[in-house]
Amino acid sequence: MRIVHVGGSGEIGKAVSAELGRRHDVIAVGRSTGDFQVDIDNPSSISRMFSQIGEFDALICTAGTVHFAPLAEFTIEQYAIGLQSKLMGQVNLVRLGLGFLREEGSFTLTSGPTNDDPISLGTDEKNGVSVEEGHIRLPSGPGLGVVPQESCFGSPVASYG
Ligand SMILES: NC(=O)c1ccc[n+]([C@@H]2O[C@H](COP(=O)([O-])OP(=O)(O)OC[C@H]3O[C@@H](n4cnc5c(N)ncnc54)[C@H](OP(=O)(O)O)[C@@H]3O)[C@@H](O)[C@H]2O)c1
Repeated sequence: MRIVHVGGSGEIGKAVSAELGRRHDVIAVGRSTGDFQVDIDNPSSISRMFSQIGEFDALICTAGTVHFAPLAEFTIEQYAIGLQSKLMGQVNLVRLGLGFLREEGSFTLTSGPTNDDPISLGTDEKNGVSVEEGHIRLPSGPGLGVVPQESCFGSPVASYG
């Protein structure tokens, strides 16, 4: 398979690349390293990368920046880092990459352990990628929880189709 790997030079990416490289044609992509360069925070850069690379069978992303800090210390700008990079960066890889994906192809994205196993500085990673059950610790009190709604009740049933 022809696999595009964004973030192949990173801690996680090196292990993924080493394994996949044994069996597949892996195209390494990084911000400054790799066969091709992209800034996933920038949709134009992503489009340029796909037009350079062309068709592929799979894309794996092990890139995406988040800011780590206690919730009470987060600024809007720091929150925007994870939203723009780890969330929208990966969303845009899929959105813009769909036109280059071969039949039966796939995308594999990276979240983080904080979805299931919260850590005190991991507020952004948790909310920025996938909001699941769990708690973010507040300075005092029980914390901030999110409950996934796994069913659809009432008027949305008709309007969401
Ligand atoms: N390390 C962990 O223990 C761990 C645990 C759970 C989840 N994660 C998540 O896994 C992902 C990778 O973590 P890591 O520790 O492997 O990171 P890392 O060592 O910092 O590597 C980041 C990789 O992503 C690339 N990259 C960074 N910013 C980019 C951008 N804007 N556009 C395109 N490529 C970019 C880097 O390319 P260059 O080298 O060219 O800059 C590098 O290949 C992150 O989303 C992280 O939150 C990591």
